[in-house]
Amino acid sequence: MQKEELILILDFCGQYNQLIARRVRECNVYCEIVRHDISAEEIKARGAKGVIFTGGPASVYGENAPLCDKEIFNLGIPVLGICYGMQLMTHTLGGKVERADKREYGEIEVNFSQSVLFDGFTDKNVCLMSHTDFVETLPEGFEKIAYTSSCPYAAIENKEKNFYGIQFHAEVNNTVNGTRIIDNFVKKICGCSGSWQMSSFVTETVKALKEKIGDGKALCALSGGVDSSVAAALLNAAIGENLTCIFVDHGLMRKNEGDEVEEVFGKRFKSKFVRVNAEQRFLSRLAGVEDPETKRKIIGEEFINVFEEEAKKIGKVDFLVQGTIYPDVVESGKGIGASIKSHHNVGGLPDHVDFKEIVEPLRDLFKDEVRKVGRELGIPDHLVDRPPFPGPGLAIRVIGDITKEKLDILREADYIFREELERDGINKISNQYFAALTNVRSVGVMGDYRTYDYMIALRAVTTMDFMTATITRIPYETLERVSSRIVNEVKNVNRVVYDITGKPPATIEYE
Ligand code: XMP
Repeated sequence: MQKEELILILDFCGQYNQLIARRVRECNVYCEIVRHDISAEEIKARGAKGVIFTGGPASVYGENAPLCDKEIFNLGIPVLGICYGMQLMTHTLGGKVERADKREYGEIEVNFSQSVLFDGFTDKNVCLMSHTDFVETLPEGFEKIAYTSSCPYAAIENKEKNFYGIQFHAEVNNTVNGTRIIDNFVKKICGCSGSWQMSSFVTETVKALKEKIGDGKALCALSGGVDSSVAAALLNAAIGENLTCIFVDHGLMRKNEGDEVEEVFGKRFKSKFVRVNAEQRFLSRLAGVEDPETKRKIIGEEFINVFEEEAKKIGKVDFLVQGTIYPDVVESGKGIGASIKSHHNVGGLPDHVDFKEIVEPLRDLFKDEVRKVGRELGIPDHLVDRPPFPGPGLAIRVIGDITKEKLDILREADYIFREELERDGINKISNQYFAALTNVRSVGVMGDYRTYDYMIALRAVTTMDFMTATITRIPYETLERVSSRIVNEVKNVNRVVYDITGKPPATIEYE
């Protein structure tokens, strides 16, 4: 893997940290988010070409303010401080940070002076500001390179030492030319060439996996989702038939999905493919269960049971493949807030399968990068571009107790909804869209008859990180067509509603 051009992002708990990493990667430079208290020695040992301090909610004078190793400033490598990161740099190097009476927030016009950080665009630019503390006195050797009407030092530089600070958030879309600023930093200031490519990732990773696994045997739990599919495809390219993919078909997949997975992995790949038809087992354990968390728990447990049983048949394996991706790694390291739902990811760790090591070939990648890798490896677009589908599948989209009949109704309605959205190109503006079967039945009229049938809810959201989401603005014409097709083509449905709730307060899934 081409990692010699490494940028390290020190995490001060800002809400946009992952975005910073994404922007750096968009400049084709490899980066990682690391703890804010990483030692200068380690940064040096890892050969970082530059360091970015993220923003964060703290104040440098706060009791538990996260600080950095001061020696970082003696390493001779460039530093870019963003928001809190700039304030921390100022404070650490002998400048003064003050608290303003009121917070400066919003898309604000910033006036720039000449600086390599702002190469390639004009002297005025709209940027997202979100801060209360501000830099009042610069440390020695620094100069002002940007200001706003209420912030005297919106950006600063120490040209000689290559230290830069910006009070605004270059990583968000609201900042015009934001990616350009990051690109200038990593390429013109840190000297990275920008050679991080997905094709080189694939070649290097396949080579590394071959070396690591040798003649060993690997096992992968395929869910049909993007991450496990791409992880399996990488292993398939590396070790071929020494990989066995187990696809537990829990009967909670969308229409045709199980067959599509089988088509790609069972027929096109050299690896061994086992499809376990476990629908009956799952449905009988779920029968009559209404509580969402109990449903999730049962599915998680049963999944592991089936997987373990199948794995035992295969005999000893050396490696277990997991489709963990970078946001999972970053999030699990943080221990974020309250648990709203117990997310079950197919591929969770089985206790009784004997293996030497876990292999997580996508650990360093963001979702869009995973999709690129999938394409490089020849996975068809409709699998690679698929919106996220939760491990518990349709079980958490049928509200309340589950039956095969309800699942079949939902599968048909969901298929129509997705087909129509894709036909109208709405899939390009929506990051997740699906139908849910509400447990509500209502009165309707069909021809001369009274009906008493189910209500389908349509859900489509637009989001960057799935932590918050807004509803996708689907044109009424599309919605009408979907509704008319569903009530006409799907038996036992007589009413269709569109869910117009954002997240928060609603979650994306219904359970
Ligand atoms: P919520 O419903 O919490 O969902 O707003 C946020 C995102 O997570 C997905 N999701 C899951 N993914 N296992 C998964 O792999 C799960 O148990 C699970 N529950 C929710 C959901 O589809 C959305 O993209």
